[in-house]
Amino acid sequence: MDSQPRTILVCVAWPYVNGEKHIGQIAGAYLPPDIFARYQRMAGHRVLMVSGSDTHGTPITLQAEKEGLSPEQVVEKYHRLFIEGCLEMGLTFDLYTHTDTENHWQVTQRVFLRHLENGYIYRAVQRQWYDPEAGRFLADRYVEGTCPYCGYSEARGDQCDNCGRIYDALELRNPRSKLTGNRHLEIRETEHFFLDLSKLNERLLAWIQDDKEHWRPHVLHFTQGQLALKELRGRPITRDIDWGIPVPVPGYEHKRIYVWYDAVQGYWSAAIEWAHLAGDPELWRQWWDLHTTPDARHYYFIGKDNIPFHTIIWPAMIMAYNDEPGATGDPYRLHLPYDVPASEYLNFRGQQFSTSRGNVIGFNTVLKMFQADAWRYVLTALAPETADTEFTWEEFVNRVNNELVANWGNLANRVLGFAYRHFDAQVPVPGPMDQSDRALLDEIRQGFQQVGALYNGVRLKAALQEVRRLSGRVNQYLNEKAPWQAIKADREQAATSVYVALQAIDWLKLLWAPILPHSSEELHRYLGYDRPLFGRQYTQEVADGRGTHLVLRYDPSPASGRWEPSPLPPGQALRKPKPLFQKLDPAQVLGERAGVG
Ligand code: MF3
Ligand code: ZN
Repeated sequence: MDSQPRTILVCVAWPYVNGEKHIGQIAGAYLPPDIFARYQRMAGHRVLMVSGSDTHGTPITLQAEKEGLSPEQVVEKYHRLFIEGCLEMGLTFDLYTHTDTENHWQVTQRVFLRHLENGYIYRAVQRQWYDPEAGRFLADRYVEGTCPYCGYSEARGDQCDNCGRIYDALELRNPRSKLTGNRHLEIRETEHFFLDLSKLNERLLAWIQDDKEHWRPHVLHFTQGQLALKELRGRPITRDIDWGIPVPVPGYEHKRIYVWYDAVQGYWSAAIEWAHLAGDPELWRQWWDLHTTPDARHYYFIGKDNIPFHTIIWPAMIMAYNDEPGATGDPYRLHLPYDVPASEYLNFRGQQFSTSRGNVIGFNTVLKMFQADAWRYVLTALAPETADTEFTWEEFVNRVNNELVANWGNLANRVLGFAYRHFDAQVPVPGPMDQSDRALLDEIRQGFQQVGALYNGVRLKAALQEVRRLSGRVNQYLNEKAPWQAIKADREQAATSVYVALQAIDWLKLLWAPILPHSSEELHRYLGYDRPLFGRQYTQEVADGRGTHLVLRYDPSPASGRWEPSPLPPGQALRKPKPLFQKLDPAQVLGERAGVG
């Protein structure tokens, strides 16, 4: 545990709201930050976790065309759906908003103007794919073709999903129009604004080479490799489409800002919106402003396809923003990322989850079928932290039944149930402790150091394994002490073992809590505590100059969970326990999954 409270911004990738998210995305980018944030709050740090729906760009307009809806309707529908999932899964965003808000538009346009003023944005005529059949320029996802780097045949105009590289759409081989299927595309000229990344290549390289030992190797190597080429060029950041944030330059208002240029700024704009909602408009500076809090740490939780945007382009945008402001500039200097713990992919049937290929397991769908904590457990156990992993329904059932239920759930149930029945529904008063009693408690107590360091280092899978090992130790202890036998001959000795086991599960409850918040909360109540471990999630409609939008928030104030092994008071009244987890029937799960994926 750290003695000094740190200031931590937990940044979570902004999902496109163009459909139900799948469990691969949850395992990769949405569950890990919640586990991390819950741990850091328990450890006493100052945490702000922000994200929101990415509402702009061609992913949204393509879906709108497909469903015969307006882009606004698509945003409304899937934004709400994602928030419902976050509530059920218990993802504790301090603020989850979206990018079609007055605040976000203002921030984006201000940053654009500052980049322009600082000399990092220039105008140039760009050559672009044009579909004469549709009479339109093919921005981003409206053109597909073969990746110039890896040969993947379904690469998009803005990025290759296979190798993660980003490039100019003109480099695509065999391009075809998503609008008409036309393969006879023309190259036409159009004027756009460019972010001049070439000016920042050296500075980015110096930054990425400095003090990044804590980064995941795949993230660091990819980024260093790209920057070491010293080939960064200007990147167009405006588009000829009509959905998005207007370019704030007279004569160009009909063009729109590129979705990736605006979305990453959400990490800042959401902190500003959060501060407004909190009633203290300057409060965002505690997390973002270099001068206010020089040692704040920013963590970005994303999937691997988002890496270049977060380790190159967004840091470049921050550097370009931080340059000496001119007459109209803001006085702020913003923090660069401290860590970008990007995930690899959780695969299914040997390939990536893919909505278009029907290879998908929907986030909202599965939360209706199984307990949120069962998903949280399995998706952490299988988390693709440093390599791709594979989800199977067989493994889901095995992990729930043989680990979550057998190792932890049954332990908690049998100790609580026994104490409830044989010790008057109270925590028994222990007699003198022997060597093995003390050894067990010492070992679990040390878990706060060890497991805490793993959570803090975003090694969530390893944290899970360590807590599981500690739970196993308590099972072993109970089998040795067998209080259900001892109670017949020596009630005091049984009371001691039951006390020790209850104390152990009381601490394990905390060690598990970041991963299993719902069941830890329940166990906390059974153990007789009145104040909740965690705060409260809620939604709210917020009105602004662009209309109203739904936001998800978190009120940490009722939380009492602290990352420390405090003593369980003997004599504390217990509440009648129920099993924490449902054991799964393999036949039923394997049958039902047919309807899901
Ligand atoms: N919407 C993008 C995606 O789903 C992620 C955006 S992350 C952000 O891949 F930082 F740019 F918001
Ligand atoms: Zn590729």
